[in-house]
Amino acid sequence: MTAQPRKTAPPLAQQVIWLTGASSGIGEALVKSLASRCLQLIITARNADKLQQVAQQSGCSNILCYPADITDRDQLHKVAGEIEQQFGRLDTLIANAGTCEYVDVKQFDAELFERVVHTNLVGLANCTEAALPLLRHSQRGYLVGTSSSVAYLPLTRAQAYGASKAATNHFLEAMKIDLAGEQTDVSVICPGFVKTPLTDRNDFPMPMRISAAEAAEEIIRGIERRQWEIHFPRRFTWILKTIAALPAGLRMRITRSMSRNQASASSR
Ligand SMILES: NC(=O)c1ccc[n+]([C@@H]2O[C@H](COP(=O)([O-])OP(=O)(O)OC[C@H]3O[C@@H](n4cnc5c(N)ncnc54)[C@H](OP(=O)(O)O)[C@@H]3O)[C@@H](O)[C@H]2O)c1
Repeated sequence: MTAQPRKTAPPLAQQVIWLTGASSGIGEALVKSLASRCLQLIITARNADKLQQVAQQSGCSNILCYPADITDRDQLHKVAGEIEQQFGRLDTLIANAGTCEYVDVKQFDAELFERVVHTNLVGLANCTEAALPLLRHSQRGYLVGTSSSVAYLPLTRAQAYGASKAATNHFLEAMKIDLAGEQTDVSVICPGFVKTPLTDRNDFPMPMRISAAEAAEEIIRGIERRQWEIHFPRRFTWILKTIAALPAGLRMRITRSMSRNQASASSR
């Protein structure tokens, strides 16, 4: 069998793009910079009022708001049905919606684990299921998922969030392998700390934190190049990657020093 010649990816200006998690933070910043560069932007989150507000504030008329919960497959299929009816295809899905809750090992709560994994991992699979048939109607479809740089190495209190994001990387890489023959591209976004309502809740130092607008520009640059791994800020992500590559004993000596539990144990 002869291999199909690789089709070129359409420029952003010709693309129909579906962005989830668009009502806040990184997604909200992406709406502002993406809508002015693409053909049509479809935005999703649970908060319908906030979605409308974000669309209006962008000043762009090529945005459609479809509220949906990514843990609800029926709602996502409804959105996909609307996209199919109006445009007949989807060029890019940016599955950005996500949540973060930190674990307290002294009061381990499996329900917290379920909430985080359900939104971040199962939610991504739900979005993929709804979008994939439409991506196949594109000249060269593109599945993009937002993970995190925490996926590179296990960190304190990140048993649920980190596991959901490590699994996100695994999921997307396996998708990339299996979709290569169909000429559908896949990318993973691994941000370091970005100032958003999600990180505004954190009560610990966040080194090298960047603004949501800076994160959006990094993401759009990576998406235009269809870069497999879009990670930033580079100085921060390379430090994490370097620690992750160390022998386990040394690596855990470094990461253990960040644990509050470790600090309270050694002070007893
Ligand atoms: N900020 C960071 O430092 C950082 C670092 C690494 C990775 N990330 C990842 O980047 C993504 C965006 O985070 P952010 O910092 O921008 O957080 P954020 O400001 O809290 O925004 C999260 C977005 O996801 C939506 N969302 C959450 N649960 C949803 C659900 N069940 N169904 C539909 N939409 C849902 C929220 O909208 P509604 O509440 O209206 O549904 C909101 O639009 C997440 O995947 C996060 O894990 C963030």
